[in-house]
Amino acid sequence: MQAMDGVSVMTQAKKTDSGQLSLFSPSGASGDAKAPPAVAAAAKVALRAVAAPAYGAGEGRKREAASGGAGARLKRSTGRVTAETMARQQRDISVSEFFAKNRHLLGFDNKRKALLMSVKEAVDNSLDACEEAGILPEIEVRLVQTGEDRFRVLVRDNGPGIVKQQIPNVFGKLLYGSKFHRLKMSRGQQGIGISAAGMYGLLTTGKSIRIVSRISPKKAAHHYEIQIDTKTNSPNVVKDAEVEVAWEHGTEVEIELAASYNKGRQSVDEYMEQTAIANPHGRFAYFPPVGEPVMYERGTEVMPAQTDAIKPHPLGVELGMLIKMLHETKSHWLTGFMQTEFCRVGPKVAEEICRRAKLNPRAHPKRIARQEAEKLYKAIQEARLMSPPTNCLAPIGAEQILTGLLKGVKAEFFTASTRPPAVYRGNPFQIEAGLAFGGALGPDPKANEDEPPPEQNGKGRNKNGNGSGGHVPLARIIRFANRVPLLYQQSACCIFKTVIDLEWRRYGLSQSGGSLPQGPVVVMVHMASVWVPFTSESKEAIADYDEIRQEIKLALQDCGRKLSAYLNRRRKMKYQGERRSIFARYIPEVVAACSAINPKIDRASLLTNLSAMATRITAQADEQLDEHGRPIKSIAGMQTDDELGPNVIVVDPDAQDAAAPPSAPPGTLFSQAS
Ligand SMILES: Nc1ncnc2c1ncn2[C@@H]1O[C@H](COP(=O)(O)OP(=O)(O)OP(=O)(O)O)[C@@H](O)[C@H]1O
Ligand SMILES: [Mg+2]
Repeated sequence: MQAMDGVSVMTQAKKTDSGQLSLFSPSGASGDAKAPPAVAAAAKVALRAVAAPAYGAGEGRKREAASGGAGARLKRSTGRVTAETMARQQRDISVSEFFAKNRHLLGFDNKRKALLMSVKEAVDNSLDACEEAGILPEIEVRLVQTGEDRFRVLVRDNGPGIVKQQIPNVFGKLLYGSKFHRLKMSRGQQGIGISAAGMYGLLTTGKSIRIVSRISPKKAAHHYEIQIDTKTNSPNVVKDAEVEVAWEHGTEVEIELAASYNKGRQSVDEYMEQTAIANPHGRFAYFPPVGEPVMYERGTEVMPAQTDAIKPHPLGVELGMLIKMLHETKSHWLTGFMQTEFCRVGPKVAEEICRRAKLNPRAHPKRIARQEAEKLYKAIQEARLMSPPTNCLAPIGAEQILTGLLKGVKAEFFTASTRPPAVYRGNPFQIEAGLAFGGALGPDPKANEDEPPPEQNGKGRNKNGNGSGGHVPLARIIRFANRVPLLYQQSACCIFKTVIDLEWRRYGLSQSGGSLPQGPVVVMVHMASVWVPFTSESKEAIADYDEIRQEIKLALQDCGRKLSAYLNRRRKMKYQGERRSIFARYIPEVVAACSAINPKIDRASLLTNLSAMATRITAQADEQLDEHGRPIKSIAGMQTDDELGPNVIVVDPDAQDAAAPPSAPPGTLFSQAS
């Protein structure tokens, strides 16, 4: 912070006093006990400046000199803060006040991002609600520009709707929701999302969030207009009326906010496109503020598997939490507590844990002292426990990932891999990866190398590992958490870090140290979990847990191996084709030279024999691959052991336009790898 002169500090103090900034700093900035030193020093100067009478500067100095510096001493003593004055300033901070001041933590740090966040929070809620109610989602997203840097966002779903009594709290109170206290995979988890978007709209335009919700065709739809009271974190209902709507059930949310609309990377357009890829069971109608509406039709009528909420796994519970659970349980016995509060603890395991902890299995949980709880905690860590159940997870599935990628990316080679479920801090999770290469993403930079690529030995031959010598684009990473695209904070995300740490040169791509692989590649990674460990409340990047990193690495390696096998095969075909044309060019010369040495030679049969030999040696040039990257017919003398494995699709680039589904969006975002 820069040093402030008396005038500017006074202006600041007046602003605060007059309440102009009260929405953001109701407690007043100048006397904040927790203010950093520079702010505190400036505040002291301000106090002095305000306390001093309005003399001219020279006059003030004269008077101070006359009083023998007493004034200076006086001013210093008034600036000193005592425990009592601090106590008068210490009070509760409402969660809404906190987030209004720190809205960047929720992702509302600039106008462009604010538009995306509002759409994202509403669409994520709609998808969650539809899936929980077993309804195939139909979601309409409308963006209307209402002024310079001002937009109206409208999102409507065909979900189960929200009961009337809950609407004010859901949209007008932060940290209120149905997902935080359960362990089940869903897009939302914190209970902040949509009310934060409404709060941002209110703060920037003064307009209420508007909701219309209907829970059944037999019931009327309710129209609410709500404002959040940031001081108390509670809803203020501005309008509550019954309305006629044409739809049977669902929710419509409308927010007006200060925002800006751009196309391209990190835009609402990109969010919609990626959401359609990760949610092929959804139908999305997107009306951008400019240009034609975009329809994302369903890729499948099959809903994601229904997931169950699970109880916490004992290994994921920390000591403090265990003590709290012991005090709050309704069980009367320690073994009963273990079995009812946790998953994967049966009677035998519960007895065994009590025995190890040297605690009576029939002890009353509420009477377990802190030291005993610590013993119990240690015994849990040493017990042999099954991993948590995984019916709480609904991965996208390799097949659906391929369908989604095929729909959104015009590439030539596609592969996907789904890892078995794993556990971090007691939370089950599952990693899936997809990879697209070539086609409209760009040419293979190594295709023109004059030797076939080495057999998966991991090392590029030239210094930079890039045989083409020209500019090669960097790979594009698309990240998802519980089917939600993550568009910001890429470099803080565990997915990105794992991608750059992987040795892509092993898989036939170029890569310079510590950066993304180079090539016409799109890499997609999805993490499904009952609790995604986001690095902040804006849910943009996944925290770097070793277990998560390891699973991402294994999934990417699987995709990488298939890519490498495909590239090796294709590059060899090309190489052999080029060799054959060189042979064809020189064989007549060789025949002519031979007959010059020995005129008796049969030129015609020499030509036929040499040509046959060249065709045999370069047989791989004739190989054709099917849509799974497998050779269509085996060619005599050729090895076909480098099968690409399952979940691979190879698209004939020439037939690609014809094969594209008619409803597919323009796909402009994926037309280049970087
Ligand atoms: N379109 C909707 N249909 C049905 N219920 C909804 C809808 N939107 C919100 N809800 C309900 O309102 C709650 C609060 O939504 P909100 O977005 O604020 O939090 P969340 O989705 O639980 O978590 P997160 O902050 O991570 O988004 C949800 O938990 C859900 O129960
Ligand atoms: Mg939400």
